[in-house]
Amino acid sequence: MASPRATETAQITPSTHPESVVAANEPGASQPRAMVAILDYGSQYSRLIARRVRECHVYCELLPAETTLAELRQRGACGVILSGGPDSVYDKGARKVDQAILESELPVLGICYGMQLLAQQMGGRVEAHTGRREYGPADIYLTAPNQPAQPEHDTLAETPEAVNAPNALFAGITRASDVGIPVWMSHGDSVGELPPGFSVVAQSGSGALAAMSDTHGHIGIQFHPEVNHTPQGTQMLENFLYHVCGLTPTWTTGAFIEEAVARIQAQVGDGRVICGLSGGVDSAVAALLVHKAIGDRLTCVFVDTGCMRAGEPEQVVETFRSHLHIPLVAVDARDQFLTRLTGVTDPEAKRHIIGEEFVRVFEAEAAKLTAEGEVGFLAQGTLYPDVIESASASDANAAQKIKTHHNVGGLPEGMRFAVVEPLRYLFKDEVRQVGSELGLPEEWVWRHPFPGPGLAIRVIGEVTPERLATLRHADAILIEELRAAGLYRQIGQAFAVLTPVQSVGVMGDLRTYASMVALRAVTTGDFMTADWARLPYDVLGRVSNRIVNEVPHVNRVVYDITSKPPATIEWE
Ligand code: XMP
Repeated sequence: MASPRATETAQITPSTHPESVVAANEPGASQPRAMVAILDYGSQYSRLIARRVRECHVYCELLPAETTLAELRQRGACGVILSGGPDSVYDKGARKVDQAILESELPVLGICYGMQLLAQQMGGRVEAHTGRREYGPADIYLTAPNQPAQPEHDTLAETPEAVNAPNALFAGITRASDVGIPVWMSHGDSVGELPPGFSVVAQSGSGALAAMSDTHGHIGIQFHPEVNHTPQGTQMLENFLYHVCGLTPTWTTGAFIEEAVARIQAQVGDGRVICGLSGGVDSAVAALLVHKAIGDRLTCVFVDTGCMRAGEPEQVVETFRSHLHIPLVAVDARDQFLTRLTGVTDPEAKRHIIGEEFVRVFEAEAAKLTAEGEVGFLAQGTLYPDVIESASASDANAAQKIKTHHNVGGLPEGMRFAVVEPLRYLFKDEVRQVGSELGLPEEWVWRHPFPGPGLAIRVIGEVTPERLATLRHADAILIEELRAAGLYRQIGQAFAVLTPVQSVGVMGDLRTYASMVALRAVTTGDFMTADWARLPYDVLGRVSNRIVNEVPHVNRVVYDITSKPPATIEWE
């Protein structure tokens, strides 16, 4: 199963196989799109490199370190980035790069461990544990005068002298000779001896080699251009992509939509598609793309589990039917879910029941639709991070792991759909852009992720209609106040939790003994790690005051100030 994250499609995610990451560039595409391959050596920043490259409007894919030259060619790679990683090139079993890649004409940018690999495999020498470890901010100094910035459209073929110059990566990054370029370092080993044909391009203040290059587009840098702490890192990546690899910045939302629509049409032909909607952005955008491609041969199904947030079911129906005019079957299955949840307090049991029940309802709806004509396809909002994570799950050295408890439900054995996953190569913010462009209301586009099991895992302990109503009310107040304060978009995820704690209070002249609500708000990039949001005290005060005054049976509000790790974002 492959849905580790806060994807609203988690309930209906069939397995994604690791090899799918190294399959054809774009299923259904006759020509692979020009792209840059990022070979992943396990750095915590590998995914960030991919994000940055996409921000430069160049399509890229994160591929396993073992990817061969033949596979790169098949995928249309015009350049290669070797990521950093925790290994030392001298470690037993340290991962290498296919030597044929280094001997080909493909430009290669080695970052950190990637630079050390480049050095070692091209005939240089890496010094392990030199005592020159550098972690954190550093200034680097170019060893030769720099070139002016290149116009974006100039490519290797057009200006060979300039881009083949050893310091092509730093074009336009001008500094007086005594002022360094600020970068972020993170390494223990260093390159001690350059490979033949390479020269030193930059050194760090401590004298370590910071950048090296030959005149064939092989560049090694010891620092991380992908992190914000390297302020000109994006310009360096642009230099590599546009001028060394000769790529043009054509990866835009419009281009993506056009391609995705053509691909869906090619895959589905005159078939029919079903799509489960959750109220989240991923499944909504997947549905919009499929609808754009095949019109009313798409039917969306929305299952109200009784564990949705305030107003959510109504909003789904209103947006899809009235606003977007997409055929939608809305199933009110609240009783069915809540009956099965009666008396259940274990979080995993709740997840299991909701997953199982969801499949049952979805299956019944699919059967009804099939009676009107075969439905051969299931559209899902699987995102690229899910694909990467499922691929790396089998790899013990991989940077990220799937948390098993997120795998809610799954499709039953007997249900045979071909899967349509138009967002399979997109990151979350790209999905949001596509959604905006396709007319999804802004409020929806920016909605915080919501877990498949919904409020059932935020009502700690037994899930009853009354306790759900209490939580729904408190949660709505929190979200309303965050929006009013203009903070909603800055926060990765915010919600209320109904705890099983009862405490004493006093309201008017009466003693109360009522429930405690906890508030959770986190800032996060990828939901794998998160920090508690530093909400202004007056916003917290307003939320607390309103909850205690407006929500019956609640007399105390607390704010969760735990980061992830060690805590998780959800309480169950
Ligand atoms: P945790 O609590 O593990 O959550 O820090 C990370 C992200 O995953 C979401 N989450 C889930 N999403 N089914 C889902 O679809 C689940 O069972 C589930 N549990 C947690 C959580 O909301 C957060 O965004």
